[in-house]
Amino acid sequence: MVKYPKTNSKESVTIMSEIITETAAPKKRMLSGIKPSGDLTLGSYLGAVKNWAERADSYDCFYFMADMHAITVRQNPADLRRRTLEQLAQYIACGLDPEKNTLFIQSHVHQHAELGWVLNCYAMFGELNRMTQFKDKSAKNADNINGGLFTYPSLMAADILLYQPDLVPVGEDQKQHVELTHAIARRFNGVYGDVFKIPEPFVPKVGARIMSLTNPTAKMSKSENEDTGRVLLMDPPEVIMRQFKRAITDSDTENCVRYDKENKPGVSNLMTIYSAVTGKTFQEIEAEFAGQGYGKFKPAVGEAVVEALRPIREEASKLMKDKAYLESVYRNGAEKASFVAEKTLRKVYKKVGFVAR
Ligand code: TYM
Repeated sequence: MVKYPKTNSKESVTIMSEIITETAAPKKRMLSGIKPSGDLTLGSYLGAVKNWAERADSYDCFYFMADMHAITVRQNPADLRRRTLEQLAQYIACGLDPEKNTLFIQSHVHQHAELGWVLNCYAMFGELNRMTQFKDKSAKNADNINGGLFTYPSLMAADILLYQPDLVPVGEDQKQHVELTHAIARRFNGVYGDVFKIPEPFVPKVGARIMSLTNPTAKMSKSENEDTGRVLLMDPPEVIMRQFKRAITDSDTENCVRYDKENKPGVSNLMTIYSAVTGKTFQEIEAEFAGQGYGKFKPAVGEAVVEALRPIREEASKLMKDKAYLESVYRNGAEKASFVAEKTLRKVYKKVGFVAR
């Protein structure tokens, strides 16, 4: 990634500008975020963070905690603060080295809210109204269908377009929002010239949609409660094993580990999880458990997940005890992010006709 000077001083922005102009490497840029609206699940890990970490060396990476998105649904303030810091610790524990990746808190970079407003004026009511997530969340929060929930994709477009990234790695459920970002960016560029780079979503081949262990037709979600078949990144081994042992398998009489998403959604979900954490193909998994039935398969998936998450849980718990370190990471991250974001915002403000500050 681009080397930024390590400092907290405001004057550093000018120095940064010089250094970046001189040394900017032509690495492609990658950006993504997660809402701290619940504790990170195995779904968020396999659909998002794992893929971020695997590409950290080859891209200039920006990753953030989307706290502004989290308040579209009511949050307990103390829990939101705790989860935001925990999420940062988990990003680092998953392999996102703060020296190589820009890690920051969305609300610390004011340009997100500012560009979000501008892009609201370039997002159409009909487009926002078609978003699946808006429909789902409105149904679940019928007493709080607020404006933020509706215009959420404009803020997400701002999150992305501010950094002019090449790639946006997300799980399947966020693809629609990235596509709307394209539409907004193209509309804006159509009026004002090439202001925004049009980014590509990157959806992993395996793990883009991890389903609930107790209801394999519903996405594993961090905002649901424990009984909904979710596994958290920080769950201790015994809890993970319990969740996998009680995972729903399919009611066919076959009792055979075979990938068939349509007819065997439970087993197929477990196979996806096993494949994502071990790197084995579906064929290899079918061969490994041939003739063994679900009774052997479920704890084996549990054990593989326990082992994959163990180092993350241990490292994140250690990092959570070092608040000063976490603070230095998110402060530096916000400074670097703000520097990049400001360039885009200034250009946008000029294009739309705002008088320079
Ligand atoms: P969020 O917080 O709901 O989810 C974070 C990321 O995890 C992926 N994910 C999953 N992948 C596979 N299986 C699952 N069960 C699963 N659950 C979650 C999501 O697809 C996502 O990639 N709006 C975004 C956050 C955001 C963002 C952005 C992302 C805000 N601004 C800009 C990218 C770029 C969201 O709510 O994700």
